[in-house]
Amino acid sequence: MTAFPSERTAILTGAASPRGIGRAAAFYLAERGWHIGILDIDADASAATAAELTEAHGVRAHGVRADVSDEASVRAAIDELEAELPQIVALVNLAGVSSPVPYLEVTTEEWRRVLSINLDGVHYATRRVAESLVKHRIGRIVNISSVSAQRGGGTYSKTPYSAAKAGVIGFTRSVARELGEYEITVNAISPGPIDTDIMGGTLTDERKAGMAEELLLNRIGTPRDIAAAIAFLISEDAGFVTGQTLNVDGGFYMH
Ligand SMILES: NC(=O)c1ccc[n+]([C@@H]2O[C@H](COP(=O)([O-])OP(=O)(O)OC[C@H]3O[C@@H](n4cnc5c(N)ncnc54)[C@H](O)[C@@H]3O)[C@@H](O)[C@H]2O)c1
Repeated sequence: MTAFPSERTAILTGAASPRGIGRAAAFYLAERGWHIGILDIDADASAATAAELTEAHGVRAHGVRADVSDEASVRAAIDELEAELPQIVALVNLAGVSSPVPYLEVTTEEWRRVLSINLDGVHYATRRVAESLVKHRIGRIVNISSVSAQRGGGTYSKTPYSAAKAGVIGFTRSVARELGEYEITVNAISPGPIDTDIMGGTLTDERKAGMAEELLLNRIGTPRDIAAAIAFLISEDAGFVTGQTLNVDGGFYMH
């Protein structure tokens, strides 16, 4: 078993929005000693979040702009993060967009937009980071899917989103199989409804209560609920967990 290096970096895509899961995860991981690389389409927010992480937790952090649907942009951004920060040990793919369009109104443009960000983007970042992880023969990759993949929509987003997030689960299993020999684990997290702004803006108390009705617990999830699951799956002690999908969804989908 290869031990983690004492100084290690987690790269998070989609970690710059102020109320998002990625930002919460970045702070949660920094608090636990991870150096943080942020890759987000919002350049200013990426840089500002990195500065806040260093100030709050004394870790090294660097934020860059990239569009995850553009492979060249992803590769250049990760090259920069790798040059600036300690050894990359973990990648968390969080960048994503919602899509509430009914299936009969889905255009080719909408289909391509959602698939290219939510699925191609996971591949581009994973492919580039995997090239670094295999050199050190240690690594952790976590991809964010959605309960929408398992239940066939049924939340805010519809078919292109559901298809992309289902693709993320198949991708996770297959890459886990191929990278296991390098002691790289690859897992997915499938969140239920989480209180962020991705579902058409900040959720009202009424919308939150409506979403919670179908869950086993009396609330929807928080970004911290997902951050804690990410922290476990990228930890050194989670090295025997791979190819899995961890449902963090208040019991919305049981499998
Ligand atoms: N909130 C939920 O209920 C929920 C449920 C299941 C899954 N998820 C997934 O969790 C992840 C995080 O979502 P969130 O709820 O924190 O939403 P969010 O909108 O706060 O975060 C999405 C982040 O991705 C970034 N992003 C968007 N397009 C990008 C692109 N092309 N390139 C790079 N970055 C881009 C945004 O700037 C933002 O920082 C997403 O993959 C989402 O699909 C969310």
